[in-house]
Amino acid sequence: MLRTNFLGLELKNPVIVAAGPWNRDGVRLRESIAAGAGAVVTESIVSDTMLDVGPRIACDDKGAQNIRLYSDIQIEGWEREMKIAKSDGGIVIASISAHSPSELAYLASKLEKFGADAIELSVSNPMLESLEVVASHADVIYEMTKAVSEAIHIPLIVKLSQNTTNISKVAKAVREAGGSGVSAINTVRGILDVDLEEARPTLSTYGGISGDYIRPMALSSVATIAQTVDIPISGIGGISSARHALEFLMLGASTVQIGTAVMMQGKHVVSQIVKDMDAWVVSHGISRIDEIRGRALENLKSFDEMRYEPFVSTVTGVPCKENCSRCVETCMYGAITKAGNTVHVDRTSCTGCGLCTSICPEKKLSLEL
Ligand SMILES: Cc1cc2nc3c(=O)[nH]c(=O)nc-3n(C[C@H](O)[C@H](O)[C@H](O)COP(=O)(O)O)c2cc1C
Repeated sequence: MLRTNFLGLELKNPVIVAAGPWNRDGVRLRESIAAGAGAVVTESIVSDTMLDVGPRIACDDKGAQNIRLYSDIQIEGWEREMKIAKSDGGIVIASISAHSPSELAYLASKLEKFGADAIELSVSNPMLESLEVVASHADVIYEMTKAVSEAIHIPLIVKLSQNTTNISKVAKAVREAGGSGVSAINTVRGILDVDLEEARPTLSTYGGISGDYIRPMALSSVATIAQTVDIPISGIGGISSARHALEFLMLGASTVQIGTAVMMQGKHVVSQIVKDMDAWVVSHGISRIDEIRGRALENLKSFDEMRYEPFVSTVTGVPCKENCSRCVETCMYGAITKAGNTVHVDRTSCTGCGLCTSICPEKKLSLEL
């Protein structure tokens, strides 16, 4: 039921383990495959490896910041690693990163020879300002994609950044240059937090933010691409549950990629997500996961298409908790009052903003026309 065809590759499920140090060599890629992933992406491979700075990863319960650049294994070493990665079967996508089209084409054709099933171009690293700039230049992305697509015979995915003014334009450039698909999004440039006593950010340079922090931006990037460009999409950003993965599929992604959840919880999170997606599909009488792709897009309007509807809040469940009055305290229209455990909404003051329905911990308020 979860089987899906992505860029001509037959995946047993649409859950891919994203590029990152959890996939830094053949053994770790094989572990990700063994955890049940439909495919895996290598950490980004470059022609000149660099020594790592440290510390380079910090996290909290909502996500992470990292300043890890890319694979520390030389391109030649990937012949060996690719063999190890693929020794139990499994689909391996090689991620590559470079500044010039010819260097990318060189890396891609080497990795195709080493057995990669597809190539992902990582041209949107928020730590490297030069590459961050590339990510928003459709013409540069076009040249890079074209050079690689002409050099290989396997599918080519280009990983896009949210740090761009027009992601549709970049996705269109990928399609026109012969790219087979796009993945979105890479980490978002940011600073996780500051130690007040030391007056010091936890990591001492700007880094890539990932995890829960970026999921809303990633969902919006995927939906925007799906609504404007006819190209297969792999959705990435803050996915740690089947629910999150299904949200991306409903907004137009064909597959999803998981990074930070694997890093912070371990690879068993992959099998849990696959199991829960399967259960959801069965409970909804769906025969193929592809059937839900893009289903939520028809309910995603542009702001111009929105029209006034006279919603009002209504109390759907009584009694309410006596010691909670969040709806009363936060209603900006003074429409909600509470006596004991009974909430009352004044329908003439309520303007149907919807905040109380989200904020109520007991979900006792809803909107009606
Ligand atoms: C520690 C770390 C290292 C990463 N390394 C790479 C990389 O080598 N290449 C790449 O394209 N993306 C890399 N990423 C980005 C992830 O693949 C992914 O796009 C991003 O983290 C958002 O997804 P997530 O919230 O599920 O982590 C890295 C992310 C993290 C947290």
